[in-house]
This record gives sequence, C-alpha cells and structure tokens, in this order.
Amino acid sequence: ASDPLVLFMPSGKRGNFPVGTTVLDAARQLGVYVESVCGGRATCGRCQIEVQEGHFAKHKITSSNDHISPRGAKEERYDRVKGLPERRRLSCSATIEGDLVVDVPQDTVINTQTIRKAASDRLIERNPAVQLCYVEVDEPDMHKPLGDLDRLKVMLEKDWGWTDLLVSQHLMPEVQKILRKGDWGVTAAIHRDLETSRPTMIALWPGLKNEAYGIACDIGSTTIAIHLVSLLSGRVVASSGTSNPQIRFGEDLMSRVSYVMMNPDGREAMTVAVRQAINELITKVCAEGNVDRNDILDSVFVANPIMHHLFLGIDPTELGQAPFALAVSGAVHSWASEIDLDINHGARVYILPCIAGHVGADAAGATLSEGPYRQDKMMLLVDVGTNAEIVLGNRQRVVAASSPTGPAFEGAEISSGQRAAPGAIERVRIDPETLEPTFRVIGSDKWSDEDGFAQSIGAIGVTGICGSAIIEVVAEMYLAGIISEDGVVDGAMGERSARILPNGRTFSYLLHDGTPRITVTQNDIRAIQLAKSALYAGVKLLMEKQGVTQVDTISFAGAFGSFIDPKYAMVLGLIPDCDLSEVKAVGNAAGTGALMALLNRDHRREIEATVQRIEKIETALEPKFQEHFVHAMALPNKVDLFPKLA
Ligand code: FES
Repeated sequence: ASDPLVLFMPSGKRGNFPVGTTVLDAARQLGVYVESVCGGRATCGRCQIEVQEGHFAKHKITSSNDHISPRGAKEERYDRVKGLPERRRLSCSATIEGDLVVDVPQDTVINTQTIRKAASDRLIERNPAVQLCYVEVDEPDMHKPLGDLDRLKVMLEKDWGWTDLLVSQHLMPEVQKILRKGDWGVTAAIHRDLETSRPTMIALWPGLKNEAYGIACDIGSTTIAIHLVSLLSGRVVASSGTSNPQIRFGEDLMSRVSYVMMNPDGREAMTVAVRQAINELITKVCAEGNVDRNDILDSVFVANPIMHHLFLGIDPTELGQAPFALAVSGAVHSWASEIDLDINHGARVYILPCIAGHVGADAAGATLSEGPYRQDKMMLLVDVGTNAEIVLGNRQRVVAASSPTGPAFEGAEISSGQRAAPGAIERVRIDPETLEPTFRVIGSDKWSDEDGFAQSIGAIGVTGICGSAIIEVVAEMYLAGIISEDGVVDGAMGERSARILPNGRTFSYLLHDGTPRITVTQNDIRAIQLAKSALYAGVKLLMEKQGVTQVDTISFAGAFGSFIDPKYAMVLGLIPDCDLSEVKAVGNAAGTGALMALLNRDHRREIEATVQRIEKIETALEPKFQEHFVHAMALPNKVDLFPKLA
C-alpha cells in the first residue's frame, strides 16, 4: 500500500509520507508554516495542530484519531506543565500512522478582517523573516578549542539546518555570558528574508525564548499608524496611531519639500521628528500589549515617496519637480539601529518598494492587501490624501498614477473645513422641499433635528465640517437643486429658503446658524469640484490605458475612504459608474499590506514582482488629462454617464 496521505488546512497542501514521520516534518516538507522554537523538544508548544476527524471525499481521504500516534511521554509532560487544549497535539511529537487531515489552528493564521472593518477573505499565512531557534550547545573542552560561538553555530546547523550563518556584530561580546547564563541552552533569532541571502543571527537569549514581535507601520503625511504583532502566533497585540509631527513644518507634502529646500537643517529636523514619533508609538503599543520593546525583532514600513525618503534621511527635493526621481525605488532592507528605532538592537527593517515618484510604498502596500493583480475583475483602488494614488487593473495588467487632488477632501481650503475630530459635522441631509438641513456631528449619535441633540454634543458644540461631510453636503445641494450641474449656487433659490445667502457676487448655503456659523460657499464648492475633477481625470486616464469604459469593483483606501459614503462619491462623479454594492471602504489598506509583508516574506517577493510590472502613468505628461479634467468639473460629469446611480 502507498504511504498515508496528509492534508493540511486551511492551505490545502497535501502529500504522502511514510508511517512514523512527525506531522511537523511533513508540514516542513510541504512548505506549510508551523512554528517551532524548541526544535521538537516538546517544550515550546508552538507547533500545535488539530486532527480533523471524518471522511473527506473531495480529497479521498479518511482521517481519524487513530491515524496519528497516541500522546507520548514528552507530550504528556507538556500537557501537565503548560496544558494542551482538548484536541490539540504537538506536531513535533505526533507521528503519522494513517491518512490525516490536519488543521493548523486559527491563532496561527490571521484574517485581515481582524484588523479592519471591511470584509476580506485573505488569510495571511505566516512565514516571517525572523525565526526563533532553541539549541543546546556542547560545553567547552580544552582539547577541542572551538570557540563558544562556533559551537553554537555548529548546533544551529545541526538542529535547524542554518548553514553559512552570519552573526550580527553586536552579539559577539555577549555570546559567552548568554551561553553560561542559559546553562548552554540558548534561543537564537535568525533572520533570513531573501531565499538567496545568508541567514543572520540577530539576537540571542539564555534558555527557551518563546515570544518575538514585529511592527507594521504606515507613515502617512497626516497620520502614522502602527500594529504590534506576535511573529509566532500572528496575533495583532496592539494598534495605535498619532498625527505626523512633520505637520508643523508644512501641512502637505509639497510644503514639506519646500521647507527642506529653504532650510539647511530642514531635512534633518523632519527625519528626527518622524523617527521620534514612531518610537513614541512603539512605547505606546508595547505598554498596551505588555511587550518588552527589546522583543521586537522585525519591522515593516510603508509610506508615500516623500515620507519614505524623509524617514530614511534622504533629501526629497528631487521628488518636488519633474521627472520626480526617487533616490531608491526598490524594497529597502536595513537595520533598526541604523534608523534610530528603539527596538532590539539586532532588529531588521523592511520597506516595501515604491511604484513611482508620486505613487509610493503605501500604494504598494494597498495593492498587496487588495490584490487587483490576483483577480479577473477590473479593480479600481484609490487612496485619497493630498495626492490621490490610483491603481487600476486585474490579473492581466495593472496601471498606476497619482492625481493632484489637493487637501480639499481633508477639509483644508474649505471655509468651515476641519479635520475629522469631535465637533466636526460628518453627515448631512437636505430636504429637497424645504431645503432645510439635518446633520450629524462626530462624537454624537443623534441627528441635529432629534431630541437631546444639543446635550449629546456637549460643551464642544459644532465646530466645523470634515472631509466626508463636504462631499455629502455638496452632493445633497446638487440633488436638492441648490447648485447646478456647473456647481453654481442658484441665487433664485433664496426666494424659497432663507438658507441661501448672498455672499458678494455669489451665494452661500447656511448649514448651521450657531457659533461658529457654518456655511458652504461658492469657493468651497469650487475647491471640491477641482479636487474631484483631478481624481476622476486620473482614473479616466487609467481606464483609457486599460481600454475599458467600466470598472467592476472599487476599493476606497485610507481614512477618507472609510468615512465617505460611496453613493455621494458617485453623485459628485469622484469615481466612475459602478455597482454600489461593489464599492467598498477598505480602511488602512497600506497598513494591512505592511502587516502581510511582516508576517510572510513571500508577500514581500509577491509585491516586489508586482511593482516591477505595474505600468506607471505620469498624469502631468498626458495630453488628455486636461480634457478629462474639464469634463469632470461638471456634476457628475459633462460626458460620462452614471447609469448605475439611477
Ligand atoms: Fe516546540 Fe513542538 S516544536 S513543542
């Protein structure tokens, strides 16, 4: 008879193995990632699996509990000391005795859904670049004068197969002390990212070290967001965010580039500021997750090109003007100590590749997370900030561009605009008969016409209007007939409502008659028209490159995307016509991409290869951009139709 068949879930990988093979060995041979720190000594408990009982017709396999060896002495001991859940087994001890269906439990596979609101079905299987390896080293022998470190390397090769191992210099002075402290049992952290690169020992602890962490960080021009993740279980331990302190040098990207150009110390000051903010965030997530910052061994970053350069200490001046040359576009591999990150001294840094001078590693992260290149549907992925980063494609072909939307969508350049914060209006409705508005404010769960609204907003009151609400109010004004297709406030409506106010030669709409008084002016509407035209023209250009007149699905990334109502985005013509059910907010997709690259180095290769084949379109150089822009000034568009809105 042939060897038993073993099927691993959820990956579906399978193979035949001789009776007596450990389940861990079978997993290794199939490339199924099962953690193991103690090297099969049945002490770390990281290698747990579950045997699925029953008949699996699709795979022609019958699995049952007597197809696996009974618990041996070592497993019993582990259970007594640490406790082993009911159906769990240590895969390093359990051997294959017949056909098996084995589940690698969920706590070793994370779902992107756990870290963001939108639904995603992609499992992040783990295969981190850093691995913990416990070894027991021979004691020194006067007759065999092999050094302590050399004998450690011998064991790392013998037990774990690490050949040609490099050792991080900072460990050399520590090795002897650590070996003796651990009574010759030590845990080494080995880093290997590229399959072709030499593995490196980056950290060493006495005894069995059973936890290692990583951080995934998105450096946005406005906000920095971070996840602290267990590299051994894949669990997100804590997440946090803070505003980018570089804001004090310039609100938007271009003003920060000008700051560098005008101040000799400008680049340095901004590099220090962003690194400091990241270190503070690390302190915060470590406190929240009760994690020692020295246990952080790997880190992955995404950022737009200018943030990327400033973080690395590179002058971004070249990015401020054509041809928008990046100092480095490929993925960056570095050491945390070299960029002043206050984590384990041997910790590594990986930064995703940039796509183009205006389309950064953050867009690469979002692309990895949403995966247009993995599907047949034509997917539009937009990340709206001061610049909109746009990716459009499918399995066949992916194109990308950025569009200068300006900061209007973030509430800047709007008379009563503000950042999303308590007191900001976030939702607006206008009655098409009476032209009376109702709205909701961040921090309150009541609409402005509901009882108890005033109490619910408390002392903060109504302070302004944020990006998502600006889109809504302009769209609602258009739907109520207050503004025309050209975006002009119709003064004649003043006869119907006292909310239409003359304002010089133009008219405004009074949204809230309080302190402060919140109006939507003709200039505000113009600012939104300009921003949305830029976005739409960029999208249209990419659609033309792809030769399509329709997209199948739209993913809105970023904070703005999370709050915006897709219906209103389409009413104004920010995005092309699409089934509303196919338009979704995907939250911080760039950060999710960073997390994927942290937990699985295969994802790093995947996005590096994808970025190579993404075609970059420079909107500024495309003659048709202007034409698309002019058409997009109209609401929703002068030439393009939106049949799905009806
Ligand atoms: Fe450590 Fe199995 S590998 S318990």
